[in-house]
Amino acid sequence: MNVTEAVLKRQAIRAFLPKPVSADVVRTLLDTARHAPSGGNLQPWHVYALSGAPLDDFIAEIAAKLARNERETTEYEIYPRNLWEPLRGRRSRAGEQRYRALGIGREANGQAVLEERNFRFFGAPVGLFFCLDRRVGPPQWSDIGMYMQTLMLLATERGLATCPQEVWANWPKTIRAFLKLPDELMLFAGMSLGYTDETSAMNSYRTEREELSKFATMIGFGTP
Ligand SMILES: Cc1cc2nc3c(=O)[nH]c(=O)nc-3n(C[C@H](O)[C@H](O)[C@H](O)COP(=O)(O)O)c2cc1C
Repeated sequence: MNVTEAVLKRQAIRAFLPKPVSADVVRTLLDTARHAPSGGNLQPWHVYALSGAPLDDFIAEIAAKLARNERETTEYEIYPRNLWEPLRGRRSRAGEQRYRALGIGREANGQAVLEERNFRFFGAPVGLFFCLDRRVGPPQWSDIGMYMQTLMLLATERGLATCPQEVWANWPKTIRAFLKLPDELMLFAGMSLGYTDETSAMNSYRTEREELSKFATMIGFGTP
């Protein structure tokens, strides 16, 4: 698989097979992804990978908290308040596609069902967390994004699938305690990693993208 094929094949997968991913494969993916670029070569990413019993324990802890209706406050705003067009429309269309695939509308408990699946890493055998030093700024947050995308493409190349998950930012205290994060580190996002359940409707659709002309301005190339 070449890079273009990996870019086009990668999609957010929201139902995984219980098939395990070996420690060697996870280590190789994390290790290769460290060649991602970062401003000033700061490499500001910190990654935690969970599998097996610790992953089960962590998921059970979150499930118990959800059952008790416990909630935590995020350490950063996942989206700007009062999202504007065209961002607002894009977000809601992606949401509609998810709820349609789930077969339960947002209004009819769909949000809670999806959230609960997020908080089980969608059944994936590996759960990843990406953290950064809370003193860094937006450029370093983008560096972490580059690490994550590099990792996702490498996973795709190996026949694996992923779902990046900022929804995990809703559990900063629990994740801090579970991972024993040092005070200076904060969680940016999580990621599910595993093998796609090809039979699930959750994986059966693709999200749309804007046309190139809507966001790119090419200057000095002549007319096509
Ligand atoms: C940083 C980041 C965080 C995301 N967080 C979540 C999440 O918490 N839960 C989820 O189901 N999808 C999450 N997604 C997946 C996006 O919804 C998805 O990438 C987008 O709708 C485009 O679809 P595609 O990835 O299938 O191309 C996240 C994506 C990114 C890049």
